Amino acid sequence: MSGPEQSTWLLSLEERARDVLPEVVFGYYRQGARDGVTASEAAEAWLRYRLLPRVLVDVRAVETTTSFLGSDASGPYGVAPTTLQRAADPGGEVAMAKACAAAGVPMVVSSNATATFAEIAATGVTWWLQAYLPEERALARPLLESAVAAGARAVVLTADTPVVGTKYDDGAIWSAIPPAWLRVNLGDAADAPKARDLGPADVGWLGEVTGLPVVVKGILRPDDARRAVDAGAAAVWVSNHGGRQLDLAAATADCLPGVAAAVDGDVPVYVDGGVRSGTTVLTALALGADAVFLGRLPLYALATGSTAGVERLLSTLAEELVEGLRLSGCTRPEDARGLVNNSPMAGEKCP
Ligand SMILES: Cc1cc2nc3c(=O)[nH]c(=O)nc-3n(C[C@H](O)[C@H](O)[C@H](O)COP(=O)(O)O)c2cc1C
Repeated sequence: MSGPEQSTWLLSLEERARDVLPEVVFGYYRQGARDGVTASEAAEAWLRYRLLPRVLVDVRAVETTTSFLGSDASGPYGVAPTTLQRAADPGGEVAMAKACAAAGVPMVVSSNATATFAEIAATGVTWWLQAYLPEERALARPLLESAVAAGARAVVLTADTPVVGTKYDDGAIWSAIPPAWLRVNLGDAADAPKARDLGPADVGWLGEVTGLPVVVKGILRPDDARRAVDAGAAAVWVSNHGGRQLDLAAATADCLPGVAAAVDGDVPVYVDGGVRSGTTVLTALALGADAVFLGRLPLYALATGSTAGVERLLSTLAEELVEGLRLSGCTRPEDARGLVNNSPMAGEKCP
């Protein structure tokens, strides 16, 4: 499918998810922390940037393939960790993983996933574990060890959650779902208080315990990006948790160029938050991202069409990105870097 019908499909995904999901589930997925300002600004923030396409370039052959920490992928995007996927579709994380496996893109599995790591891994997907660390670090070992045993290729440390940001309509969801859903992989560690003393040493500790590359998620500041890299992070992930932690936190689109400049190519830079189209993916690449992750959109696609819905989302992004690359005079995702006329990177790349 192509043309207006396709973009309408993408743009109306949230609305259609609202129609099919129980109100309490849709409300939980969509909500932001407190007044929801950061959550509501995420998608808009990307739209403030304008691209400076190149011309007189042979764009017959365009490649979107890339590598995520050594794992091949069909495009520079993947699925971000989100909880309670079984509330979107009975197939839950397994249905999501099947779509990612078919599309050849990575999936980051929430530590609160409602399917076992083994069930997810059996789909053949390239997957990473997302972890929060508990106050008592040793309590995380069983989760980490079972993820390693099931074939996780990296561990993503979510660093923006010393406490869970207040959501005014929270609570309803937790009584609407079976409590056992949150213990599928976490067991009793689900009740452990989160660490409020995370530090650079935890990056090294996670690497030692798992033997996996550690990605630090929840970075907005250039100085924190540098601290993460110096602590041994294999990648940094610009995120404000979809606006679900600190309300009034800055938009990731605006933080990305500064982080990319601070990291200076030492490790890959990922970004999430409000990515709603292939053109937004292109804009993120232009602003310095190596790849982007999507949170709510795959949940909405799962809710409206199960595995086929997520496959359609991923193929739509791929088509839009290929078109955007061609129209920008780019033959590979990395060619898009700097193709913006109003970011701190513009002066460097587009005199
Ligand atoms: C319903 C929901 C649950 C989430 N659960 C987690 C989680 O368990 N761990 C985590 O690191 N981030 C979690 N996130 C944040 C996402 O990984 C991601 O940062 C964010 O959703 C990206 O923004 P987007 O939804 O606009 O794409 C969650 C987000 C949503 C919407």
